[in-house]
Amino acid sequence: MQVEALPSAVRDVVQSHRCGGKRIGLVPTMGALHVGHVSLMDAARRDCDFVVATIFVNPLQFGPNEDFDRYPCSLEHDLQKCEAAGVDLVFTPETSQMYAADAESEVRLTGLTRKLEGRHRPGHFDGVTTVVAKLFNIAVPDLAYFGQKDYQQQLIIRQMVSDLDWGLEIVTCPIVREDDGLAMSSRNRYLSPADRERSLILFRALSRAQELAQTASETPDSIAQQLQQLISGTDGVDPDYAVVVDCETLEPLPQRPERAVALIAARVGKTRLIDNQILRFR
Ligand code: PAJ
Repeated sequence: MQVEALPSAVRDVVQSHRCGGKRIGLVPTMGALHVGHVSLMDAARRDCDFVVATIFVNPLQFGPNEDFDRYPCSLEHDLQKCEAAGVDLVFTPETSQMYAADAESEVRLTGLTRKLEGRHRPGHFDGVTTVVAKLFNIAVPDLAYFGQKDYQQQLIIRQMVSDLDWGLEIVTCPIVREDDGLAMSSRNRYLSPADRERSLILFRALSRAQELAQTASETPDSIAQQLQQLISGTDGVDPDYAVVVDCETLEPLPQRPERAVALIAARVGKTRLIDNQILRFR
């Protein structure tokens, strides 16, 4: 496995493999890798001939009061996990190599990015789309892998790829959970034992939402209300939002759609967690 810190080195290596006819897969991450990240690498390994993973804690996507300074960092472990997953090349740039001091450009979407996470984390998705656009331009992948865990993020990246005519395919991989249902996240390590226990309400509430969706009298709105109640009824858990909306537009839905997505963001102690589930109504 090769490790490169310079964009130009990644571009050259990948280009030589592309010229050899290989299918290139890209897995962008911010490190502190867990089984959820590894599942994206596994999918890329299955589909592609040459797998590039990136590890970069992107300052642009963190708000001023967010956890950029204490975001977990474990490069040695991360590289071992990449190697074990069969990654061919890991890109680990320094901030100065990604963002020149005199850079002026950013990529900003104007619709999907304003909702839900975007409303609670202003500027977050502008940082995500800008860094992902740069990673696409550096690695020029045929396929790029994202997790359903960050549901709105993968929708926004699909929209960006379509808007800007990138000839690449976005693959969305299922949410990987702990045995008790908590969605794996680099931020779970911030949870105290008591908060770790409380955080289970997110998965329980989403599972309840799926049960409710099977009941003919329930609508997306009535389910969203119950989600909200379940979460805010748990001591020490404070929801930012709990909604049931259209899977593509994230807009409110008619009475009984065929499917919808339930999306939750909540603070558990000092840690902000997100989770989601596709609901099937019949
Ligand atoms: P990060 O939070 O490190 O996540 C990297 C990728 O792993 C994302 O596509 C995310 O959805 C996926 N992922 C995280 N937890 C997962 C889980 N439990 N199951 C399945 N997939 C999971 O998301 C980012 O980094 C950044 O915003 C990034 C796209 C790298 C841009 O900086």
